[in-house]
Amino acid sequence: MLNLIFLGPPGAGKGTQAHRLAARFNIPQLSTGDILRKAVADGTPLGKQAKGLMDAGKLVPDELVNGIVEEALQDKAAQRGFLLDGFPRTVAQATAFDEMLARLGRRIDFVICLQVPVETLVARLSGRATCPVCQTPYHPLSNPPKRPGICDNDGAALIVRPDDAPDRVRQRLAEFENKTAVLSGYYKARGLLRGVDGVGSPDEVEGRILAVLRDRVTQGPANP
Ligand code: AP5
Repeated sequence: MLNLIFLGPPGAGKGTQAHRLAARFNIPQLSTGDILRKAVADGTPLGKQAKGLMDAGKLVPDELVNGIVEEALQDKAAQRGFLLDGFPRTVAQATAFDEMLARLGRRIDFVICLQVPVETLVARLSGRATCPVCQTPYHPLSNPPKRPGICDNDGAALIVRPDDAPDRVRQRLAEFENKTAVLSGYYKARGLLRGVDGVGSPDEVEGRILAVLRDRVTQGPANP
């Protein structure tokens, strides 16, 4: 069992790396952003509540995302482990998550904190194209699709996310600094935080994360 959290600012590569590790270890990627975007696209009550805040680059209320994660953790696939991408994002979410895990008798192995300078984040987000169906992120320089503008997985036409407009990116970076960055200290105090240099090719970054996970094997499983 492998239970990981990916922490990092918008554009750090959380989705890219969680997607790769989910395939490698055959455990689900639980992305609150992806789940919310699907709810928006489907026009569900959750999506209607979230849409305006997401488009503006603001966080949606803690109670909404806590409920999403609790439900996702009870899914059969998540019994083998999970890769959380984009949650928790506030101290209130982190404490609610601790309570959920205690109820379920589960523990976090590591919190992988991807470290990327702000100018690189902005460059990545300004070039990103996303599949509206499977949510795979692409970039013309680092991770181009095989056919321009088309998702490799399902053939859907790629889109630019509304919150990738430059003013929304600034708002999202500010939300991260004001509400999420504090979680590094929260998890460091528990000995779970592992900082990983997020600059370099996606293969290089994945190699650094795998090196952290190899440490877990040599240290013995945290989740026997
Ligand atoms: P969410 O979807 O989680 O967005 P985010 O955190 O802003 O993260 P991103 O998806 O923008 O970036 P990423 O780190 O995943 O990077 P990626 O791999 O795509 O959340 C969206 C919204 O939903 C929030 O603003 C909020 O409204 C709401 N929300 C979600 N969770 C919430 C929560 N818990 N609480 C409250 N609200 C919540 O990579 C970015 C680009 O860079 C891509 O083009 C990629 O191809 C490229 N790239 C990736 N790695 C590399 C590399 N190594 N080198 C070069 N390019 C790379």
